[in-house]
Amino acid sequence: LLRGTVIDSSSRTTLRILTDAVVGIDAAGRIVFVEGGHTEPLGLDSTLELAGGRSEPLAGVRVVTLPPRAFVVPGFVDTHTHAPQFAFTGLGYDLQLLDWLQKYTFPSETKFSSLEYAARVCHTAVRRTLLHGTTSCIWFATIHTDAAVQLGRIAANLGQRAFVGKVNMDRNAPETYCETTEESLAETERFVQLMLAEHDARLPGSSGSACGECRGPPAQPVITPRFVPTCSAELMRGLGAIAAQHGLLIQSHISENLGEIEWVRSLHPAQPTYAAVYDAFGLLGPRSVLAHGVYLGPEERRLFVERGAVVSHCPVSNCMLRSGMLNVRRLLSEGVAVALGTDVSGGAAPSMLSAIREALKVSNMVSLSAPEGEGCSPLTYPEAFWLATVGGARALHTDGVTGDFGCNAAFDAVIVDPLAEGSPIDLADDDGPVEVFQKWLQLGDDRNTAAVWVDGREVYNRADDAAAKRG
Ligand code: GUN
Ligand code: ZN
Repeated sequence: LLRGTVIDSSSRTTLRILTDAVVGIDAAGRIVFVEGGHTEPLGLDSTLELAGGRSEPLAGVRVVTLPPRAFVVPGFVDTHTHAPQFAFTGLGYDLQLLDWLQKYTFPSETKFSSLEYAARVCHTAVRRTLLHGTTSCIWFATIHTDAAVQLGRIAANLGQRAFVGKVNMDRNAPETYCETTEESLAETERFVQLMLAEHDARLPGSSGSACGECRGPPAQPVITPRFVPTCSAELMRGLGAIAAQHGLLIQSHISENLGEIEWVRSLHPAQPTYAAVYDAFGLLGPRSVLAHGVYLGPEERRLFVERGAVVSHCPVSNCMLRSGMLNVRRLLSEGVAVALGTDVSGGAAPSMLSAIREALKVSNMVSLSAPEGEGCSPLTYPEAFWLATVGGARALHTDGVTGDFGCNAAFDAVIVDPLAEGSPIDLADDDGPVEVFQKWLQLGDDRNTAAVWVDGREVYNRADDAAAKRG
């Protein structure tokens, strides 16, 4: 049982704020009730009276009481980031996308041929995102199958709900960081089989060898053509077929940079648009999460709506690589599914709080430059929070499991302590939960992460971590 202030989204535009709340979590980590207004003392031998005449005995129940001014929110869902790129984050923002890929990204990702090196980088990446409150994450690995499987294992061990892609590239990449079409497809099949086998082995009640040290749910495989320029038509067709055969998520990049778009046009002159290329190969559907979409035209936006494909908006990256400013309001009002991503290291920040802030800023700027009457109102902070939680869960088809505190959802949560040691947040005496929440959204960082829970298990506790470090 968790007691304190609970904040999640009740709709895309509205927060639900429950003070003096109780959250009941069962032994399987599922939420069984959430109710505000419980000021009565709760002893271990007492009974909790819930609305509708229900009562819950508290004998043997662990009660976690939040510290003063603290609150609990759903864990963030990062719908686009690159684990290998954590190794050079902070470098290279003098270049735009295509030059940045050649100079920094491809040479650095090549090093994932070493499993030992990859393990170090991935451990850092997963841990850092968890500390920033990312409980679900869809990761790009590299072309190296075993390093990608290893990333899934690392995420499960650290407790993150992870979705992992082995990257596919069979052209327009350096010789040392490229596959043949046959290799790429065969390795993807092998990747999917390995991931599904690990997944089945780790599920509770399975006959496989359960992973004793895993704190989180097993990672799931994602089909990951890097982007159109590095994938032949044959490769994309094959990947579309593998995704359809296993019902897998697909992730890629689309329409991020003007030079990239021109290149795609020259590679596929018979296709009317960038989105049409993915669509022609079965890569644009309700399980597709495509990063950026800054320059998607009206036809492409209609195609996204028809197919149910998702745009992962990565505003930190779009600003740092000088890609452009996405009109997120237009996507939302036209009915395109949108979620948020950090896109490390196109974006230097691994934090979804940074993605939220940058999404708000970009949307402010776009609203200023939009032609009169185009209805480009800026994103509101509850909407940005929704995109980072429920929007992400919808993109990954885990809504109902994560993203909010609905009944029967898994308890994936971040306990936020605005008064933590070193906190960058200053509170006024009369700040209520709305003000405290807004200040965290605008100013908070990982120092405010008191604890992180995934699937009803505590996977990070700042106080325990500090005590362990002190030895
Ligand atoms: N397009 C193709 N590859 C990448 C990548 O690694 N990062 C970003 N931001 N865009 C890409
Ligand atoms: Zn990316």
